[in-house]
Amino acid sequence: MPGSQRHRHKRHSRQILPFASLLAFFTTTALAQDSKRGFAFNGDTHVSDNSLLTTSNSPLKWYYNWSPYPNSNLVALNTLEFIPMIHGIDATQDSRTETVIKNIPQSSTHLLSFNEPDGSQGSGGSAISPEDAAKAYIDYVVPFRTGEKGGRKWKISHPSTTGSPNGLNWLRDFNTSCYEIDSQNGCPIDFIAAHWYGAFGGLAAWLGSLDEFYNTNDSSREVPLKIWVTEMALPQQSAENTVQMMNQTLPYLDKEQYVERYAWFGAFRTNDANEWTGDGVALFDDDGGLTALGALYMGGGFQEGQKGQGEDAAAGLSVSVGLMVALCLCSAVFTAL
Ligand SMILES: *[C@@H]1O[C@H](CO)[C@@H](O)[C@H](O)[C@H]1NC(C)=O
Ligand SMILES: *[C@@H]1O[C@H](CO)[C@@H](O)[C@H](O)[C@H]1NC(C)=O
Ligand SMILES: *[C@@H]1O[C@H](CO)[C@@H](O)[C@H](O)[C@H]1NC(C)=O
Repeated sequence: MPGSQRHRHKRHSRQILPFASLLAFFTTTALAQDSKRGFAFNGDTHVSDNSLLTTSNSPLKWYYNWSPYPNSNLVALNTLEFIPMIHGIDATQDSRTETVIKNIPQSSTHLLSFNEPDGSQGSGGSAISPEDAAKAYIDYVVPFRTGEKGGRKWKISHPSTTGSPNGLNWLRDFNTSCYEIDSQNGCPIDFIAAHWYGAFGGLAAWLGSLDEFYNTNDSSREVPLKIWVTEMALPQQSAENTVQMMNQTLPYLDKEQYVERYAWFGAFRTNDANEWTGDGVALFDDDGGLTALGALYMGGGFQEGQKGQGEDAAAGLSVSVGLMVALCLCSAVFTAL
């Protein structure tokens, strides 16, 4: 896969640009760097799909895959910022977790913690009680924040719950447990990770509840926390309804001050969509062309049906350990959702 960053540098350093285009270059670069948009790698190993998502004029700036292992063979390390995740208690007990996080390029600064602890393992959740999660968070995740682990001071999120009253209750109990263990600090947090499956109105309301819970209602909060929407989609709707929902959602997320990053679910082909979300959520069609939804997510300059560059390698070749871990986590997400 071409290293698009490298490519861009070369192109611009070879020529002396007139002032106007220089200005335009810096402006577009600044805009691109400001993009909040990213993607969740959910097991789509087609080279062309990943190459399109990471091409040099892509609005996507970051990705994650529910694991600490980057998909370096599909997403070149210098293209998108990789956000590691400590998915559940298992990952805290695996000695490779810390080593691999330490080796992630310094451009990565944020670390996600437990995935849907209020959800079952069958649906990709980590099924952890608030008490156990608080203990594991303080023992294992907080040292990444202080720099005792992971080679730098990571910004850490609380676990991302399902977008439901259960999720909020879980977070409330988690907070109580955190202060029972550490009455001074509780469970320190730098950003909020949120999931949402449903219509636009519900998404806006859920993000509003999280902002209220963490920022408005917590009088000890000095700097308001920002939200990362790490999973969102409109499940089981027609392609048209889904496009409409996304078209309403993207400008809202781009504008809303307390939203820092977001990722649509999902970056995969229609025939790889699971039954629970339905086909309408897929960014790619069965042939690897962008769906209307995919073209909207990629923004101006990208067309429905457009494909990325590159051929798929023979199955089984050059599949990294990280990829296999991600795939196996994702198949859990797949089967369940
Ligand atoms: C914030 O506090 C108000 C007033 O106590 C309460 O009614 C509301 O439910 C709280 N919001 C959340 C999200 O916990
Ligand atoms: C967590 O609990 C502490 C101590 O009871 C309280 O001061 C704080 O407001 C709570 N935070 C949230 C987000 O509910
Ligand atoms: C999205 O909404 C805008 C303004 O509301 C509209 O002009 C545009 O056609 C819509 N795009 C799609 C793909 O539906």
